[in-house]
Amino acid sequence: MNIVGISGSLRKDSHNTAILKTMMERAPDSVQMTLAELTDIPLYNGDIDVDGGPDAVKAFKEKIAKADALIIATPEYNYSIPGVLKNALDWASRPAFNSVLKDKKVAVLSSSMGFTGGVRAQQSLKYILSGTLSDVVRMPEVVVGAAHTVIEDGKVTNETTLKFLDQIFDVLTQ
Ligand SMILES: Cc1cc2nc3c(=O)[nH]c(=O)nc-3n(C[C@H](O)[C@H](O)[C@H](O)COP(=O)(O)O)c2cc1C
Repeated sequence: MNIVGISGSLRKDSHNTAILKTMMERAPDSVQMTLAELTDIPLYNGDIDVDGGPDAVKAFKEKIAKADALIIATPEYNYSIPGVLKNALDWASRPAFNSVLKDKKVAVLSSSMGFTGGVRAQQSLKYILSGTLSDVVRMPEVVVGAAHTVIEDGKVTNETTLKFLDQIFDVLTQ
């Protein structure tokens, strides 16, 4: 199974990226997990959304197309998802209702340093994904609050959090 992880944060020391990197290491043998890169994706502009769009967009969409499932890890920015992630999803969502996201199995999780763990962003992400006709995994709703207390040296170390994350693989590989 080919799973692609997408982090909503570009930060080098991002907790969300650290969670996805930890998951890459813990993926079951049947899963090959890689990360998609959002850094070079330009702001969406319909004028350049022709012939598959800019190279970074083409690569992003191709990675999604080849994936059996996605895991999106998002921070919460002002109660919603970061613009960087929304922008990437906007690119991936075209052509409307027939994009690489259509029927794609997508598990989402959220993380922030706050106690609420970005749960509002996660709800927002699920709503956005519903507009792309992707197949959003309903359970488990993985929220990692106080992220700085469960991540050390770029990896999740807290056993309860790790078990929570493993549940995502359980669902995706069912
Ligand atoms: C512009 C901005 C807005 C934010 N708004 C929220 C928020 O509404 N709720 C929250 O819990 N954290 C908020 N935060 C904190 C981030 O969620 C927190 O820094 C998180 O760890 C960032 O994710 P990362 O470590 O993956 O980069 C905000 C941070 C930024 C930069």
